[in-house]
Amino acid sequence: MSKLLEVKNLRVSYHTYAGEVQSVRGVTFDVEEGEAIAIVGESGCGKSVTAKSIMGLIKTPPGEIKAGSEILYRGENILNYDKKQMSHYRGGESAIIFQDALAALNPTMTVGKQIVENLMMHRKTIMVDGKEVKLTKRLAMQEAVKMLKMVGIPNAEQRAKQYPHEYSGGMRQRAMIAIAFACQPKLLIADEPTTALDVTIQAQIMDLIKDLQKQLNTSVILITHDLGVVANVAKRIVVMYSGNIVERGNARDIFYHPKHPYTCALLEAVPRLDLKNKQELASIEGTPPDLLAPPKGCPFSTRCKYCMEICCEQAPAATDFGDGHEAACWLHHPLAPKDDVPFKTEVRHE
Ligand SMILES: Nc1ncnc2c1ncn2[C@@H]1O[C@H](COP(=O)(O)OP(=O)(O)OP(=O)(O)O)[C@@H](O)[C@H]1O
Ligand code: SF4
Ligand SMILES: [Mg+2]
Repeated sequence: MSKLLEVKNLRVSYHTYAGEVQSVRGVTFDVEEGEAIAIVGESGCGKSVTAKSIMGLIKTPPGEIKAGSEILYRGENILNYDKKQMSHYRGGESAIIFQDALAALNPTMTVGKQIVENLMMHRKTIMVDGKEVKLTKRLAMQEAVKMLKMVGIPNAEQRAKQYPHEYSGGMRQRAMIAIAFACQPKLLIADEPTTALDVTIQAQIMDLIKDLQKQLNTSVILITHDLGVVANVAKRIVVMYSGNIVERGNARDIFYHPKHPYTCALLEAVPRLDLKNKQELASIEGTPPDLLAPPKGCPFSTRCKYCMEICCEQAPAATDFGDGHEAACWLHHPLAPKDDVPFKTEVRHE
């Protein structure tokens, strides 16, 4: 597999009346072709700002992508794209699904027409009966209906003529997925795609994204605050906290061998079948640090029950546990205490 996307040392700030909000503070990760990864973390940790940066959607001002940041798509830095290149990349090569479909869809245009518009903007030809032909509005509408069927919308022909407000919440989310996949993007970002939906619909939408990803070999970045929804979709997980990546690894390592106290806390907050109600779920005490003045040491130091003196002074470097598993925590230092910590601290690879 080759790398489709490489995000390198991404730093993004917002300039507000109160000062500079350092939303993303040096994030590095990549996505292989056809791969699904997940970015997980609490509200406000910088997930959507990262997603918007990758889609070229950070408005300057008040946003600012800091010098030195790189977002390489097939090796080219999208931050240097001109208008034309950006318009081809956004919608043609990449697409994003937001949490709030009602806000993301155009309320004044039928769902079918929105798919048609997207197709007409980004595709010149279309495959009909195995032959590549010039895309016309009529063919685009046929394709739109096909997409709506593909995402499981019943009576797709009729539904294509309806407006977003005539759809249920789950159907709107499906419609947005249809729009996103219509141009067969190579990269799809799903930013909390199921948060507003009930649990059964959530599972259906996740299955749909997974199926389409496999069918079309799309790379997916799934963004969520709920580790529970990523297990079946993503092979690799990136855990973000306060604008930083604190741990990364394959799903098995993150779920069964977490190496960062924040990941451990997140895992405790995942709903479990053996707990009768949500009140029994552990929640993470305290609030994330203020991004106007982030702590100088470890970002989690203000809430971590294992916090040591050095944690407040110096940010920990990432420790490598092999197979792409890394965590940035002082507890992995050879001189750190080995007892009463939430994980085994022996280092597999330096
Ligand atoms: N337009 C903006 N102006 C000022 N600050 C912003 C803006 N957009 C985001 N931020 C700040 O950047 C930080 C990261 O926000 P972001 O939306 O990426 O969080 P998130 O991880 O997606 O959270 P959630 O799970 O709630 O969606 C937050 O502190 C937020 O207040
Ligand atoms: S570096 Fe220190 S404060 Fe940060 S997570 Fe590890 S133990 Fe906790
Ligand atoms: Mg968000």
